[in-house]
Amino acid sequence: ESDIKNIREEILRLKEEKNAVILAHYYQKGEIQDIADYIGDSLALAQIASKLTQPVIVLCGVNFMGETAKILCPDKTVLIPDMDAGCSLADSCDAEEFKKFIDDNPDHTVISYVNTSAGVKALTDVLVTSSNARQIVESFPEDTPIIFGPDRNLGNYINSVTGRNMKLWNGACHVHEQFSIEKIAGLKRQYPSAKVLAHPECKKQLLILADKIGSTAALLNYAVNSDANEFIVATESGIIHEMQKRCPDKTFIPAPPNDSTCACNDCSYMKLNTMQKLYDCLKNESPKVEVDSEIAEKARRPIERMLEISE
Ligand code: 13P
Ligand code: SF4
Repeated sequence: ESDIKNIREEILRLKEEKNAVILAHYYQKGEIQDIADYIGDSLALAQIASKLTQPVIVLCGVNFMGETAKILCPDKTVLIPDMDAGCSLADSCDAEEFKKFIDDNPDHTVISYVNTSAGVKALTDVLVTSSNARQIVESFPEDTPIIFGPDRNLGNYINSVTGRNMKLWNGACHVHEQFSIEKIAGLKRQYPSAKVLAHPECKKQLLILADKIGSTAALLNYAVNSDANEFIVATESGIIHEMQKRCPDKTFIPAPPNDSTCACNDCSYMKLNTMQKLYDCLKNESPKVEVDSEIAEKARRPIERMLEISE
């Protein structure tokens, strides 16, 4: 307890000294969310990063979020507490393979989810997050041929709500694909008035059970404004920290994974970041996110296009 208090004070002191700003995703450990200047979903973090004036950004999230911030702010120092914080979904889409997929489907508009490497972003026409995917897809005329990558579940979901027939890359997130439909159905019987909140990276069979499908920010918003008192949360469990803070009298039940022996509704990458690593990265100004300048140049336009459309 006192160690956390000390490290908190030290982080705040270093933050002042370096004129840094701390951004944290909702999947970060609670104490990291609590010390951040801004918390948000991946769209909000990109929007905030694009408007900051401070010279140093510490992005507490995973690598692709740090890369997005760096691409938007090439002149700033972007730090990330642990460089190994990858993303299984981004890893499921190799840039060279994705290029072949694009070449095999000429004349298609390429729409990618932000959960991708900078190399895949550089091959993309416009990026989306789970907050704005529907809006951005619908901004194209109905007969536009579209390639969508890398998340097959989000892609399927967007196809089903828009009536489009986008060609999908076959990628997925290991956290969102492992929720147990049977156990969630069991929880619904146990808590008949509970609402099921699901991220669109979950499988279709789960989304069918959901009362609300949306990005982390959309699920949080729904929980805050809903008359319901109980919620089954089918996304990474870090979001429950802010849900519980904003709604102290409501009950949030993490959706159980298929394998009850693992804590696999935690994203092991997101949870690599700790207060100690946050302190160290501010102190040493390392690890720094760097993106090859040629790739960054190509990746900037599709990110900016996304920000323009979702303003
Ligand atoms: P959001 O865009 O909803 O914050 O999701 C990011 C993510 O990594 C989902 O797994
Ligand atoms: Fe990537 Fe899944 Fe972790 Fe989100 S929860 S950062 S999609 S591995």
